[in-house]
Amino acid sequence: MPIVSLQNISKSFGKTPIINNISLNFSKGKFICLLGSSGSGKTTILRLMAGLEKLDDGKIYLNGKLVNEKGRILIASSQREIGFIFQDLALWPHLTVYENIAFGLKIKKAEKAKISAKISEILDFFCIEGHQNKYPNQLSGGQQQLVAIARSLVLNPQILLMDEPLANLDVKLKSKIRNQIKNLTKDFSITIIYVTHDHHEAFKLADEIVIINDGKIVEIGAPEEIHKSENTFVKEFIEI
Ligand SMILES: Nc1ncnc2c1ncn2[C@@H]1O[C@H](COP(=O)(O)OP(=O)(O)OP(=O)(O)O)[C@@H](O)[C@H]1O
Ligand SMILES: [Mg+2]
Repeated sequence: MPIVSLQNISKSFGKTPIINNISLNFSKGKFICLLGSSGSGKTTILRLMAGLEKLDDGKIYLNGKLVNEKGRILIASSQREIGFIFQDLALWPHLTVYENIAFGLKIKKAEKAKISAKISEILDFFCIEGHQNKYPNQLSGGQQQLVAIARSLVLNPQILLMDEPLANLDVKLKSKIRNQIKNLTKDFSITIIYVTHDHHEAFKLADEIVIINDGKIVEIGAPEEIHKSENTFVKEFIEI
């Protein structure tokens, strides 16, 4: 059974159709990249999966459970066992790095010792131990991005939705973090759905690439299949 199943989903904002009858199935532990240009509907697809938007039509199943159907959110965002790293990160400005990462665990009423052990492990994994007492505005954009990823991972999500998470990083850090993110599917056995408009990034990371244009799927396949695609749009897009 796929861990994520989008079945004929559609979404408009006002009268403008944004997502047009998309169906996708993803297997557990896979790294999926949604690749498309600005405005193609990538963030909207993630927001629908996260339960932050209602569908106009279709169904979404996560882990075998129906979570959204036409006009209805059946399972709330907080109950979906997903992590979501937004384009704008959304760290709590009044909480330190440690408190930001601990926040979700505290809500889940985890024991203090457990919280502390988990946070040490994740700070170590991302090499951000030295920053745990700082506030987000005392960190670089790249460090903030790592904290946002750590904050999601610490909750052991089954599915991690990442919306352009490396956008603020310099080339060297980007390459290092990209490798760490790539390994998350193995180290934490989670399914990652990763949005990017950078095809180089998609080719480096993905087991499967979904190319989206104007709210429709243009092509799906492993990176080597996408490279060989005969579709004119795909050929132009990946040669940019
Ligand atoms: N809440 C909203 N109300 C109205 N229009 C919206 C809303 N959210 C998104 N849109 C429109 O839907 C389209 C798709 O937006 P979306 O954010 O999904 O694109 P994207 O592929 O993530 O783009 P980017 O790469 O720039 O982040 C855009 O034209 C956008 O203006
Ligand atoms: Mg977006």
